[in-house]
Amino acid sequence: MNLILMGLPGAGKGTQAERIVEKYEIPHISTGDMFRAAIKEETPLGKEAKSYMDAGELVPDEVTIGIVKERLGKDDCEKGFLLDGFPRTVAQAEALEDILSSFNKSLDYVLNIDVPREDLEERLTGRRVSPTSGRTYHVKYNPPKVEGICDEDGSELVQRDDDKPETVRKRLDVNIEQQQPLIDFYQEKGYLRNIDGGQDINKVFQDIDELLKGLH
Ligand code: AP5
Ligand code: ZN
Repeated sequence: MNLILMGLPGAGKGTQAERIVEKYEIPHISTGDMFRAAIKEETPLGKEAKSYMDAGELVPDEVTIGIVKERLGKDDCEKGFLLDGFPRTVAQAEALEDILSSFNKSLDYVLNIDVPREDLEERLTGRRVSPTSGRTYHVKYNPPKVEGICDEDGSELVQRDDDKPETVRKRLDVNIEQQQPLIDFYQEKGYLRNIDGGQDINKVFQDIDELLKGLH
């Protein structure tokens, strides 16, 4: 099962990815998570990515395409993959076509999680994450059992650096600009499936699951 999860910042890509990869046992490939891991480890990639991410800008295509190409070539992608947050520009989508054909792979679906912009700021500013597992919560919509503590690993939840209100607005503007050409690209190729991401988390997953069951 070869999938892409698309959607604006806060649409619920990471939240749905957790559920999809658990059920379908495919690797979760999030470029955002890969950059955050590199920042934590203070690698050259992390140093480069940090300045863009802190400003709410996209990391340059050549850097992002390079790390995805390397990741998709690993053995665990033989059984499929779930790309989260990549591609984000038409240039990335075109590069992905070449990467997949070089590995003799093709896409099944591009799932576009659609949420009105007015809901996204509240989702992002209310997000809390576990610094160890990366598990995502929301203070109102998906709270942990004990306030401020991860259910899974007991760590103290933190806010992502780019979830400050001024960065959130910039991220939304940057991503909205890139979104329509990418939707058109995948619509034309017949891969695009729109998911109503304005529903509650479990209902969004049910809709995705309905689609994916058909692939088996
Ligand atoms: P990335 O980490 O991918 O951030 P993003 O695209 O801005 O998306 P988010 O992770 O913020 O949102 P999400 O859709 O995963 O939502 P979540 O499930 O957490 O990228 C970060 C940065 O890295 C980029 O800004 C860029 O600089 C760089 N980058 C990454 N990929 C790149 C690329 N391809 N090219 C160039 N640069 C790249 O949910 C959000 C909140 O809402 C949570 O609190 C959650 O609990 C809650 N929630 C989720 N679903 C629901 C629901 N249905 N109802 C109510 N609340 C919900
Ligand atoms: Zn995410």
